[in-house]
Amino acid sequence: MMSALSPAELPVIDFSLLSGNQQQQQQILEKLSQAARDVGFFYLINHGIDRELSDEVQDVARKFFALPQAEKSAVAMANSPHFRGYNRAGVEITRSQPDYREQFDIGAEREALPVTADSPTWQRMQGPNQWPEALPELQTVVTRWQQQMTAVALALLRAFAEALTLPRNAFDNLYGDYPNEHIKLIRYPGRTEGESRQGVGAHKDSGFLTMLLQDDQPGLQVEVTSDNWIDASPLPGAFVVNIGELLELATNGYLRATVHRVVSPPQISERLSIAFFLGAQLDAVVPIYQLPAQLAHLAQGPSSDPLNPLLREVGWNYLKGRLRSHPEVARRFYPEHNTH
Ligand code: OGA
Ligand code: NI
Repeated sequence: MMSALSPAELPVIDFSLLSGNQQQQQQILEKLSQAARDVGFFYLINHGIDRELSDEVQDVARKFFALPQAEKSAVAMANSPHFRGYNRAGVEITRSQPDYREQFDIGAEREALPVTADSPTWQRMQGPNQWPEALPELQTVVTRWQQQMTAVALALLRAFAEALTLPRNAFDNLYGDYPNEHIKLIRYPGRTEGESRQGVGAHKDSGFLTMLLQDDQPGLQVEVTSDNWIDASPLPGAFVVNIGELLELATNGYLRATVHRVVSPPQISERLSIAFFLGAQLDAVVPIYQLPAQLAHLAQGPSSDPLNPLLREVGWNYLKGRLRSHPEVARRFYPEHNTH
């Protein structure tokens, strides 16, 4: 059922060539557009994110997960209407099944908006993060990483626009002045053969694009064609980048938001990953961009998962995903949307 392929099977994009000579730029844009269309996943190398900083983020994430349970529970997501904070393994749900990963969710640090009778519900997702008192360096390290990651992600997004022969700044007004960044520190505990191995169930990411920092433990798998999964094995120094639903929608399906999942590592091991999701402003509505004819005729329309219809209104699309993943937060803070 599963063919395990080497990392070389996913394309490798050298980010530094985007600022190379004209010929290099042209070549890398073509490669980028092909990778995003064929597989929707690729490795990004020479991205300019300090190796030391990424190491620090991994170290501080490991320290966080090693805190006593009470310290982690003090910042539980169940206390946050903004979907920020800690979840124990088995709490998050994907495709109606629990995910065996513990995680800490961080978003753009902003003030909560006042809730009024006619403000749309998704506005409640904006708000402050929860930071653990026992580990103050978490906030400083993650915030530095978030800034560097945002810069690279936005440069990539502009490169996608160029690769699609759209104006470089075509997507700028979607992420606007308040891009909706989201970071997840994730730890996948080892599981025995007899237990469910759903680290995270099959899903698409909801934003523009995702950049993932893996450790050296495999487990991430990509559905390249229906029911044909390949391993996105760790490649040292590289980020795994994938397309999210917003870019699939914006290009009418020309670019692919590919389904992926994580299989739990075997017992006595664990897997750490740090995901950076670049989203749009919550109040944006995603148009279909006019692609040139030679690209447009290849766009099949977004391949919507019947279990997960895509919505063009960014706030609603994002809220839909968050409510499905976090039923406890949904029950507590979004009772009017509770379908369980
Ligand atoms: C996700 C995801 C992959 C990983 O959180 O959306 O796909 O390796 N994570 O943790
Ligand atoms: Ni994902």
